[in-house]
Amino acid sequence: MSSLLRLLPIIAFVVSGVRAQMGCVAGAICTIQHPRDYNTGYAQQFSPTVSGTATTPVSSPPPSNAVRYWFPFGDSYTTTGFDPSGHLALPTVGNPLGNPPFPGFTGGGGENFVGFDTITYNKSTILTYNYAYVCTKPLSENHRLAGAETGLLRTYAYGGATINGTLVAPYLPTVLSLIDQVHEFLAGAGTKPVTSPWTSANSLFTVWIGINDLGNSFSEPGDRSAFSDLLLEEYFTQVQELVRRLQAFRVSTSRLFSPSLKIVANSAVGGKNFLFINVPPMERTPLMIAGQNATGLALLKSVILTYNSKLATKVVSFKANNTGVKTWLWDAHTEFNTILDNPTQYGFVDAVSFGNTGDFWGNNYHPSSPAHQIFAQQISALMAGTPWF
Ligand SMILES: *[C@@H]1O[C@H](CO)[C@@H](O)[C@H](O)[C@H]1NC(C)=O
Ligand SMILES: *[C@@H]1O[C@H](CO)[C@@H](O)[C@H](O)[C@H]1NC(C)=O
Ligand SMILES: *[C@@H]1O[C@H](CO)[C@@H](O)[C@H](O)[C@H]1NC(C)=O
Ligand SMILES: *[C@@H]1O[C@H](CO)[C@@H](O)[C@H](O)[C@H]1NC(C)=O
Repeated sequence: MSSLLRLLPIIAFVVSGVRAQMGCVAGAICTIQHPRDYNTGYAQQFSPTVSGTATTPVSSPPPSNAVRYWFPFGDSYTTTGFDPSGHLALPTVGNPLGNPPFPGFTGGGGENFVGFDTITYNKSTILTYNYAYVCTKPLSENHRLAGAETGLLRTYAYGGATINGTLVAPYLPTVLSLIDQVHEFLAGAGTKPVTSPWTSANSLFTVWIGINDLGNSFSEPGDRSAFSDLLLEEYFTQVQELVRRLQAFRVSTSRLFSPSLKIVANSAVGGKNFLFINVPPMERTPLMIAGQNATGLALLKSVILTYNSKLATKVVSFKANNTGVKTWLWDAHTEFNTILDNPTQYGFVDAVSFGNTGDFWGNNYHPSSPAHQIFAQQISALMAGTPWF
């Protein structure tokens, strides 16, 4: 059963694959030529003139109207197909999401909440480094598994990221987990190279993960509640890295290179602003409605509710553990239900159709771009008055 379930999203994507393929310009994302490799380190991948920038002091503080930074992590609900390796365009003023061409490659097709929040609901210029998983590693392997017949780079649409790929396997083994994404960030933009001199104060970290973890595991035997505890423990181990590992990194480089840097280190190191997003009611996706009986749907619903309640507790605990850290929790679960209970009020045809103009669902597992626009608006309202919105 569970292996069948893991195959279903692949079928789902093939349905929407035409649009995907059309937007898929060779070399645009998965970069066969330059596979993402977080082990080699980000700085090395830059040209010689900027190599070693990890140890360069953060230059003068940005002016008050300077750019802000956003580092999203997650799955196909968040990805825009960004490749952060530095081989393709990084975010800049004028191209705030970097590669690939706007709106990027998204789970439901078209602009997603990351795009809308970066360029429409923003109250400053936000440079967005979207670490949410796309595709990676040997693309040939992706292709073999996906049975892709033609086209180089269709795999971006497969999403499927989980928190820990060993704990819950994504349906393609090449998918970058949250753990992978955080490692990639720490070796990449986390080193504050000259291309992205972010600070604690001007950077926002977002995590929207868990959708595939629960979707791929809810019908497994064993205590689901205990499993959610385990998932969330690993989740917050990674989030904690974004606060502490960066601090440790900064302090150690300052000892090596300049005592004065220590002062900088204390005021402008790790992540301080965190937006968490919980798991939507996946039992209402067309994919699950078609693939599960009533018992399965009810089970998925209850597993998600338990997970979300534990997530909320974790967010409070994370904040309490880290002085100076600010947290927000966007309750996607409630917002999805509100819209799906009254779809026409929000301009949608109904709660279950997908793939056509006016549908809430862009395909059978992902919201459409108009739905994402509502999410983006709600997120910006939740965070109104912050440096970003
Ligand atoms: C929002 O972002 C866009 C794209 O970077 C930028 O042109 C615009 O000025 C920003 N809006 C505000 C209010 O800063
Ligand atoms: C991922 O999960 C596996 C299996 O439970 C575990 O052995 C491993 O330590 C986890 N990885 C991390 C980084 O937490
Ligand atoms: C419903 O689906 C589950 C798998 O999710 C299966 O174990 C169960 O037998 C099914 N129940 C009925 C009544 O068909
Ligand atoms: C907060 O710290 C306590 C004590 O070290 C730890 O048990 C708990 O897991 C931490 N919470 C989070 C969300 O990391």
